[in-house]
Amino acid sequence: MKQGFFITFEGPEGAGKSTQARRLYERLQSIGYPTILTREPGGTRISELIRRILVDLRHTEMAPTTEILLFSAARAQLVSELIRPYLATGGIVVCDRYADSTFAYQGYGLGRDLEELRTITDIATGGLKPDLTLYLRIDVEVGLQRKRASRERIEPGSVQPPEWNRLDARDLAYHQRVAQGFNELMAQEPERWYALDADQPVDELAEQIWQVVMARLAQVMPLAAQ
Ligand SMILES: Nc1ncnc2c1ncn2[C@@H]1O[C@H](COP(=O)(O)OP(=O)(O)O)[C@@H](O)[C@H]1O
Ligand SMILES: [Mg+2]
Repeated sequence: MKQGFFITFEGPEGAGKSTQARRLYERLQSIGYPTILTREPGGTRISELIRRILVDLRHTEMAPTTEILLFSAARAQLVSELIRPYLATGGIVVCDRYADSTFAYQGYGLGRDLEELRTITDIATGGLKPDLTLYLRIDVEVGLQRKRASRERIEPGSVQPPEWNRLDARDLAYHQRVAQGFNELMAQEPERWYALDADQPVDELAEQIWQVVMARLAQVMPLAAQ
């Protein structure tokens, strides 16, 4: 029997994924669901080291294949060290980005063969898919503007502003292909995805996400059964 519940956040840069993933994690924990929050690329000691290589603005010479394999290596470590073991205990995993980002960014964005990416992703994840993927929909330019603006100020309650990295720095057309790619991914597996309008205040979006997640959890792991 499958245990636990695996939730991922996807969407363009600046949509609010990291903000909302944290809010959801805190609220799930506060009502007693055993929950962990993690992110991609990263989430384990080894995966965070790989992340540093991936986001470094100096690494302009990185070949697309290298990029794909590094994301996949970071993911393989995260899945085997953290996500699978935690799901096996019956817990909820909230992950800020996951394999769909590879299809959107390296597949639709960089034009890499999607079948090839599927093979690599299956190796990295052992076929583990999210139970629910929350898509935060935002105009690409609005999202990038939010992210740029956030570099200029320190958010209340955060130690550092969100990073502006090698992947964010790609051109607008690339980010638009990525957003279109997400639309195609959603059309292929509509039952796994739930799309929300991210161009609204943080609290309102958090509440909508909460309602969606609660409705799903009520079916598969009601709190009384914990
Ligand atoms: N709903 C929102 N409305 C306006 N600004 C937001 C909203 N959600 C997040 N932000 C701000 O936008 C920036 C990017 O948010 P973040 O959660 O890091 O997005 P992502 O992880 O999707 O790139 C941050 O400065 C954050 O405070
Ligand atoms: Mg983020």
